[in-house]
Amino acid sequence: MELLCIQSQEHPELPLAELKAVIECENIEAKIDDVAEGLVILKDISSDKIYEYYKILTKRLGYTHEIHEMIIKSNIDDLAEDLQTVEWSKYINETFAVRVKRLHSEIDTVGTEREIGTLILENSENIKVNLSKPKTLIRVAAFGNDLYVAIERIKLNKKHFEDSKPHKRPFFYPGSMNPKLARCMVNLSRIKEGELLLDPFCGTGGILIEAGLIGCKVVGSDVYWKMKNGTAINLDYYGITDYRTFHLDVRELKMYEKVSSVVTDPPYGISTSTGDVDGDEIFKEFFHAIYDNMRDDAYLCMASPHYVDLKPMVDEVGFVIVEQYAIKMHRSLTRIISVIRKK
Ligand SMILES: C[S@@+](CC[C@H](N)C(=O)[O-])C[C@H]1O[C@@H](n2cnc3c(N)ncnc32)[C@H](O)[C@@H]1O
Repeated sequence: MELLCIQSQEHPELPLAELKAVIECENIEAKIDDVAEGLVILKDISSDKIYEYYKILTKRLGYTHEIHEMIIKSNIDDLAEDLQTVEWSKYINETFAVRVKRLHSEIDTVGTEREIGTLILENSENIKVNLSKPKTLIRVAAFGNDLYVAIERIKLNKKHFEDSKPHKRPFFYPGSMNPKLARCMVNLSRIKEGELLLDPFCGTGGILIEAGLIGCKVVGSDVYWKMKNGTAINLDYYGITDYRTFHLDVRELKMYEKVSSVVTDPPYGISTSTGDVDGDEIFKEFFHAIYDNMRDDAYLCMASPHYVDLKPMVDEVGFVIVEQYAIKMHRSLTRIISVIRKK
């Protein structure tokens, strides 16, 4: 069986990297066919695993906007022939609607929706179209003239990413990254539900909220008492209970239990203070402080500005950079997202 994933196109690489990381750490057995930016098909999934995988992916992913169970791949010219091979009663419960999403395609959306709807009606009995409140949604992704016809089984709740934007949290302080990127970084760290994740520069807790929501145990620390407290206020607000927070300089970090992953956005630039540590020194100090607090198989996912060269620093401590992604913030700042692990 197959799953159709429609992804955000706000970054050319991160959505696919996030999906691959989750597939890896959750041991999902599937072949990844990245058809185009924004469109990925997960193939060769065994039918008894499909709902388990479907649930994991819908719960975890930030940059994947929709996930559906594939019915058939067709194209504009062969629609009539292909759609009559499908036993629609297996998929449709009384009423349905068809929605087409174009990804790098020029096809007529409304015309194609109507055509597919008509063909489904011609090939089945006792079902009706209901455009406003369909019981079944047939989702079609169009890429060029190819049409990936799928059915929505689980709705993804993307409202959370809107509701948890930094200024909507009870404790606000400038400098928190957007929640989708925070979720993506948590996923890039290959953490799993029930494992322990640390953010030693926790600020307002943006990263910890995302990790908590996918079921991780979280620990946050910050050199400022006000931030450590603010993180706790925010975690409580989002219903996260399995957490601890500490008022601590990163250089004094000594965890009671080695962590399964570290995800963090260290201070840099003019808007965030680095305590009393100078410039790039904070990164060096951070790598040294964090190493012994991580399990040997743990991953670290962090953000840094393009002008800080992490390579010599990670080499010195015994880490290795596994993946890096650049996000252009403005003319003079590119943010680098790095995935790092022990050598
Ligand atoms: C970029 S902010 C982190 C933002 C955070 N991800 C959030 O969602 O709000 C960096 C944080 O590092 C903290 N910090 C600065 N120097 C530190 C140090 N030496 N040890 C620990 N925390 C420090 C700052 O107080 C600040 O809250």
